[in-house]
Amino acid sequence: MLPSTSGLILGIESSCDETAAAVVRGGAEVLSNVVASQVRTHAPFGGVVPELASREHLQNIVPVVRAAMEQAGYTLRDLDAIAATEGPGLAGALLVGVMYAKGLAYALEKPLIAVNHLEGHIHAVLLEMRQREQMLAQPTLALVVSGGHTHLYLAEEKLGTWQYKNVGRTVDDAAGEAFDKVAKLLGLGYPGGPWIDGLAKHGDQRAVPFGPVNVKQKPYRVAQTQSPRFLFSFSGLKTGVLRYVQTHAMAERIEVRRAALATIPNVKVQDALALCDSETLNLIASFQRAVVDDLVRKTFAAAEGFHAASIVVSGGVAANRELRQRFLAEAATRAMPVAFPSLELSTDNAAMIAAAAWPKFVAGSFADALLSAEPSLALG
Ligand code: KG4
Ligand code: ZN
Repeated sequence: MLPSTSGLILGIESSCDETAAAVVRGGAEVLSNVVASQVRTHAPFGGVVPELASREHLQNIVPVVRAAMEQAGYTLRDLDAIAATEGPGLAGALLVGVMYAKGLAYALEKPLIAVNHLEGHIHAVLLEMRQREQMLAQPTLALVVSGGHTHLYLAEEKLGTWQYKNVGRTVDDAAGEAFDKVAKLLGLGYPGGPWIDGLAKHGDQRAVPFGPVNVKQKPYRVAQTQSPRFLFSFSGLKTGVLRYVQTHAMAERIEVRRAALATIPNVKVQDALALCDSETLNLIASFQRAVVDDLVRKTFAAAEGFHAASIVVSGGVAANRELRQRFLAEAATRAMPVAFPSLELSTDNAAMIAAAAWPKFVAGSFADALLSAEPSLALG
C-alpha cells in the first residue's frame, strides 16, 4: 500500500569526504542536492585523512542541510522522513551524519531511515530512470566502483523491497583508489580519477602491455558461497606502474611536474598535459585501459553467469569517459542494456541516499533509536 504522503525525504550522506544533503520527493523528484566537498582539505595528503574529514563534516552538516531545505523550498516540519548513510565508510565521518539525522528525526518526530552507501550508489541510477519513466530490466548486475569499493551485486526488487546478492569484490585496492594512487605516483592532482581520465586520451593505450588480472579463488571460498565469485585486484597494476616509472627513469620528470603543478592556482588537467611527455601519457592511457578492460570483462561475465537482464554501473569511477564508452560498446554487441547515473550523481551525493530510502519508506522499514554508524556494513 502506498503511503498517503508525497514521500518528502531528506537524505544525509557523510561516509567519506563529502558532506551532502538532498530533498527528494517520491524517490524521483530531486528538489535539492547540496554537496560540500572536502577535496581541498585532503588534496595535499593525496588521500582522505579521517580525522580531518570528521571535523569538516561537523562544520558543514548544519549549513549543508539548511541549504538543501532552502533550495527545496520546504521546512524541516514538511518532511516525511529523514534518511542517513549508516555505512560503510569512515567511522567518525559516518557518525556525524547518523547522529545529526537521529537528532532531527527525534526532535521532529519523523521516521528515520538507514541507508547502505553502496545501495545508494545503485539507487542513483534508479532515481534517474524513474525520472525518465524507464524501467530497469531485472535482475540487474550492479557494479559499484568508487574510491572505497569495487563490488558486484545481483539486485532485484521483490514485493517493493530491493534485494542484493554480493557476487564480486576486490581483494585489495578499489579501482578508484588505484586511480588516486597512480595519479599521486605520477605527480598529478587529487582525486586522481579525473586527471587520468582527462590525460589518457592523449596517450597510446596499447603502449604498455599491462595484461589481464586474474585472481585465483581459494577453494574454500567457492565451497562456502556455492556460487561463482568475481574477484578484482588492482594493487598489482599499481605496482606495475611503479616498476615502469623506476625502470624508465621517470622520477625526476615526475618531481618537476609535481612542483610545477603545485604553483598553479586552480590547477586544471590541461595544465598537467603541458607537463607530460608522450611516455607518461602512454603509461596513463595503458593503465586506464587495463582497469577498464578488467571491469568490463568481469562485469559482463558476472551478468551472463547470473543471467542478469541488465547492467548498472555506479560510483565515482563510473564518471570515467573511457569506461562509459567501453561498457556501452560491449553492451551493444551483447544486446545487454547498461545504465549509468549522470556525472553529478556518479560521485557521492545525498540524492542517492534519499532515493534508496524511498522503497524503505513505502515499506515502513524504519531505523530505531539504537541506529549507529557501521563502518564495515555489507550489502547482500
Ligand atoms: O563515489 P565516490 O565519490 O566516493 C567513494 O564512495 O569512494 O568516488 C570517488 C572516486 C575517487 O577514487 C576518484 O578518483 C574516482 O572516484 N573518480 C574517477 C573519475 N571521477 C572520480 N575515476 C576515474 N575517472 C573519473 N572520471
Ligand atoms: Zn561512494
